[in-house]
Amino acid sequence: MTAKIQSTEEAADIIRHGGLVAFPTETVFGLGVDATNAAAVERLFAAKGRPSDNPLIVHLADRHDWKIAAAELTSHAEALLEVFTPGPLTVVLPKRGEINSMVTAGLDSVGIRVPDHASAQEILRQAGVPVAAPSANRSGRPSSTTWRAVLEDLEGRIDAVYCEDTTRIGIESTVVDCCGDRPQILRPGAVTLQQLQAVVSNTEGRTEHSTGEDQRARQRVKSPGLLHAHYQPIAKICLIEQPSSHTIQLEKGIAYCGLIDFEGRQHLDFSKVFPTTEAFASAFYEFLREADRRSIATVYVQLAVDEGIGQALRDRQRRAAGKSA
Ligand code: TXA
Ligand code: MG
Repeated sequence: MTAKIQSTEEAADIIRHGGLVAFPTETVFGLGVDATNAAAVERLFAAKGRPSDNPLIVHLADRHDWKIAAAELTSHAEALLEVFTPGPLTVVLPKRGEINSMVTAGLDSVGIRVPDHASAQEILRQAGVPVAAPSANRSGRPSSTTWRAVLEDLEGRIDAVYCEDTTRIGIESTVVDCCGDRPQILRPGAVTLQQLQAVVSNTEGRTEHSTGEDQRARQRVKSPGLLHAHYQPIAKICLIEQPSSHTIQLEKGIAYCGLIDFEGRQHLDFSKVFPTTEAFASAFYEFLREADRRSIATVYVQLAVDEGIGQALRDRQRRAAGKSA
């Protein structure tokens, strides 16, 4: 049984005693465990069905606590943490020896993140241990932005869920590798390349688009998790630039989500038109999950524009559709 809880003390207590608790952050729900407890970390990988080569992010209540997880703070990492945390940024740093190697999937680096979310911060502060927290979903599925979505995937597999639907951004944090001479984005998120470059001008974007085996091998070593399937509903996803009743079949078992309305949309089984890209990002995963609840066969998804949060949303849309980036 998974307990539905509404007390941050209770959540912290369960984590301190080696339990698994899902709680909201400003991005998506996380599934927290004590990062220093090997048995708890092992249970977490099993609960999610997560491949052991995909490292976990260590969550901290305060950026000044970085020493709990990392061996050193590079100067560019310090600058980024100062400006963007608490917030949707994960900084990858050289790892501290004490951090369990299962958490970092055997890498010599560790991702740290300070969420900008009142309840998450309370839980982290009260737990008093570094909390490893992947997104609270079965591996490969869309992340959860509601506690009901958490239970759909993990009921009976985790000890508790903190029942508060207060995620805002809806897309996971920007992951930036800060171990080298210059920061490099490994996963796009709400903090954009342009915003990072305004603080550390030589920050590099993702190199996944560059072809060549060298590049792929490098990516595999730096962030192996990115190579696994992610964010996928049961429904088939069709990505479209411009929706219209010519591109979308107006028949049963079809859903549509996007920013642009089109003639005939009311004939679909399920659809949503969002007023902004932020609103689209915030509701995207829940839309995919709702499509599955309604046994929708095909979801037409309008691709987000490649700017602001749209950069990260576009990445997730492509991955949800089974494309590599
Ligand atoms: O917004 C988020 O980041 C959410 C909330 C719960 O904080 N968490 C999240 O965790 O998305 P997860 O486990 O679903 O994704 C973690 C990502 C993966 O792509 C993983 O490969 C990368 O972070 N990562 C973690 N530690 C890393 C490391 N040491 N080196 C490179 N990549 C790392
Ligand atoms: Mg995830």
